[in-house]
Amino acid sequence: MITPDRPRAADAPDARPYQPAPGPATVRRVTAGAIKRRKGKVLFPVITAYDASFARFVEEAGIDVILVGDSLGNVVLGYDETTPVTMEEMIHHAGAVTRATSRAHVMVDMPFGSYHVSNEDALRNAIRLVKEAGASSVKLEGGAHEAEAIRAITSAGIPVVGHIGVTPQTASMGPGYKPRTHRDRLMADAKAVEAAGAYAIVLEVVDAEIAGEITRELSIPTIGIGSGPQCDSQVLVLYDLLGMYKHSPSFVKRYAEVGAATVDALRNYAEDVRTRTFPE
Ligand code: KIV
Repeated sequence: MITPDRPRAADAPDARPYQPAPGPATVRRVTAGAIKRRKGKVLFPVITAYDASFARFVEEAGIDVILVGDSLGNVVLGYDETTPVTMEEMIHHAGAVTRATSRAHVMVDMPFGSYHVSNEDALRNAIRLVKEAGASSVKLEGGAHEAEAIRAITSAGIPVVGHIGVTPQTASMGPGYKPRTHRDRLMADAKAVEAAGAYAIVLEVVDAEIAGEITRELSIPTIGIGSGPQCDSQVLVLYDLLGMYKHSPSFVKRYAEVGAATVDALRNYAEDVRTRTFPE
């Protein structure tokens, strides 16, 4: 039987060129390769998002690189640290972000424990983030000591972002959140991450001069947070930028006061209900 969507014999009287069945328009996401090629040419913003609504706002604002950070542990799940965040939680939130966006590159954090046990485990968990959440790439914390895990993941074709300087998953168990100033160690870690195949690297609260030096030395983009203006890109936690909390880290610029505006709106609503002003 010949169906309208299947190729017809060339000599059939009503032969038409083969056309695949119509499907949703395919919009290609920004790739890791495209981000890597921005190095030295285009300064680009990166922002975190953890749900569909905010992810849509991010794309609407023209930002095309989204990080589903494990900072979701602090900002949406109410943990004190990122350490308890699980693979299931990352998949749950990252899936919401990828479903709500079409063009943005969505990098997804590998949570604590998902790449530490073995390289096989690291690869298995990275594959889960791609298959179950639609991640465009994955990010993991650590320098030279995570090089093998980065190699294992990239060998399967999954792009990886490194992350050095302050590494929140282990910060409270050791070195804390103070600015990182050990130049030689930071440079060695950055180079090891690059050599292992990462296509970009986050520098978190690294001394600004050292971050500049690393940026000039590497051939992959550096994405700074609290590491000064010389990085190739900047990333912020969305809720910090929006002013959702009373206090934010000193390096954050608050572009709005959404926390205060939300409390005001809720107070007004509550007052209207109490006084029968709403509904009208
Ligand atoms: O989890 C996160 O949001 C991050 C950024 C702070 C870089 O890793």
